[in-house]
Amino acid sequence: MSKFKRTLITTALPYANGPIHIGHLAGVYVPADIYARYLRLNNKEVLLIGGSDEHGVPITLKAKNEGITPQDVVDKFHGIIKDSFQKFGISFDVYSRTSSKIHHETASEIFKKLYDDGKLIEKTSAQYYDEENKQFLADRYITGTCPKCGFEKAYGDQCESCGTSLSPNELINPTSMISGNHPVLKETKHWYLPLDQYEPWLKEWILEGHKEWKPNVYGQCKSWIDSGLMPRAVTRDLDWGVPVPIEGVEGKVLYVWFDAPIGYISATKELTPEWEKYWKDPETRMLHFIGKDNIVFHCIIFPSVLKAEGSYNLPENVPANEFLNLENEKISTSRNWAVWLHEYLEDFPGKEDVLKYVLTANAPETKDNDFTWKDFQTRNNSELVAVLGNFVNRALVLTQKYYDGVVPERGELTDYDKATLAAMSTIKAEVDKSLETFRIRESLKNAMDLARLGNKYLADEEPWKVVKTDAERVKTIMNISLQITANLTICLEPFLPFTMDKLRGFLNFPKMDWDKLGETDLLKAGHKTNKPELLFEKIEDNVIEAQLQKLQDTKKANELAEAKAAPAKENIEFDDFSKIDIRVGTVIEAEKVAKTKKLLKLLNDTGIDQRTVVSGIAEYYKPEVLIGKQVSILVNLAPKKLRGIESQGMILCAENADGSLSIVTPDSEVKPGSEIR
Ligand code: MF3
Ligand code: ZN
Repeated sequence: MSKFKRTLITTALPYANGPIHIGHLAGVYVPADIYARYLRLNNKEVLLIGGSDEHGVPITLKAKNEGITPQDVVDKFHGIIKDSFQKFGISFDVYSRTSSKIHHETASEIFKKLYDDGKLIEKTSAQYYDEENKQFLADRYITGTCPKCGFEKAYGDQCESCGTSLSPNELINPTSMISGNHPVLKETKHWYLPLDQYEPWLKEWILEGHKEWKPNVYGQCKSWIDSGLMPRAVTRDLDWGVPVPIEGVEGKVLYVWFDAPIGYISATKELTPEWEKYWKDPETRMLHFIGKDNIVFHCIIFPSVLKAEGSYNLPENVPANEFLNLENEKISTSRNWAVWLHEYLEDFPGKEDVLKYVLTANAPETKDNDFTWKDFQTRNNSELVAVLGNFVNRALVLTQKYYDGVVPERGELTDYDKATLAAMSTIKAEVDKSLETFRIRESLKNAMDLARLGNKYLADEEPWKVVKTDAERVKTIMNISLQITANLTICLEPFLPFTMDKLRGFLNFPKMDWDKLGETDLLKAGHKTNKPELLFEKIEDNVIEAQLQKLQDTKKANELAEAKAAPAKENIEFDDFSKIDIRVGTVIEAEKVAKTKKLLKLLNDTGIDQRTVVSGIAEYYKPEVLIGKQVSILVNLAPKKLRGIESQGMILCAENADGSLSIVTPDSEVKPGSEIR
């Protein structure tokens, strides 16, 4: 294992402007948790640090939209996020938040030190200002047309249509998102971290010194450094955040990406008075678990801040993951395209480990990956249920049946027994190797190989058949199966902690250190096991279909929300309009037109007469609800035969963006025959 005495693991602080979803879990928290649990099983000194990122413009925007304060927003989501993490068993030693006092103090102190030591540059520049609201506009408060692709709703820092990063001054036709007005340029003073000065050092530290970092991480760092670093503003004109701790400066806060990573330090302080040994002792190894969009901040900017401050450790590794997609589309909070953890917890109670398993087995470690509900079902049913669950259940149930739960003695070993025990003993080295290099997905596969080994052993040895002819032999088979089961409780503990807890209960077996993994006598003959229950249950098709339906509904809702009204038609004269005769009618009879999906036959009292109209609204209205309803009928439309029925006019409907139809009805009851004009 590593040469360090202890490990400090940080996990990206999620923005407290919404709940968290499977993408967060897969990219950051599950791998970090697995790694922390693994170190703890090895009796290593380790801290797993987390917390909510509670500053930043999206939070203030959300507050504004909902008419509440930013503090209300973060209080709500910090609670939801923290609760989800806890229920999924992410084993944080501390889960803090950046709106806390201790964080404000810590971030101010570090900024102040850089300022006092002359490590920051002061610069005045012209920035967009909203005169109506008397405030400077942060990048995210400005929209305009992208100069690259023409997209009309690009943000001041990025065009989400073509992906280009922008500065607000590049936007064509900039608009304030607060007032809708055109902002004006106005001078403002800010402090900058001169990243260009750190370039030689970054080259040496990362490009020379950390060639072992994952290729995706190293590659991004190299491309940032190679394209030339520029001074970066670390303050903003905003009123939500850590106030700039300089005398006489008001209405300015630290840039969210300056204060947020300092949140790792504040959280450690909140946890222990010994925080300094985790941050300053060179025998501590610091690891940042993050998603790929955070690489530049954790590999270049935050280390430069720490370097400038001078007394802190730098990260030893930054195992950043790529992104997880959902059913082939980018996960999106604003478009509600996600599997939300708080919803999963409601829909799949007790199946926290199942989701963590699937997300790890399919983790986006080297490339973006896709979560599909079908894959979730398959991995549950054919791996967790059919391999792990099936093996463990057979081993435990047969032990109950044959020996009343008592572990039998093993007799002479066959070559196959010996090979199986030997294979069991090699698993540890495999899992170690992949975990230590942060190939977590592979390590889970290595660990599951033990379950596959056991499952195959039992299936090959068929003790349930052998018992009829050779009861002695069955003792050996069951003893070996139980040793494998006991080893599983160690091997899968980092990945499936809730499940292994259950399994240890069935085995009546304590939590063991990692170094016991591979031992062939974990359970002594004569040890009494308990009656087992099933570890996993099959997930049926209808459950998966319900989840897919939910996504379909989201898609529909998004299409509706994003649909644009068709442009107006060409002008007509009033005379043209007055040729159209529309009357209010009342439906007297309604029935479906046989053998059609869409058509209803309606008999209406039009005031002029009683007439039949055939209307294509059967998918949206049941005939019986229409009786007595007032409708608008185009009465001078030339009659037309539809399915053998003469339709004498047309019922007017509004066509929604999704194509669904809604009958146009007068706002209050009127006499049939009233003209609509
Ligand atoms: N809130 C950021 C995000 O979700 C991550 C912040 S990580 C920290 O992308 F280091 F800045 F805290
Ligand atoms: Zn663009």
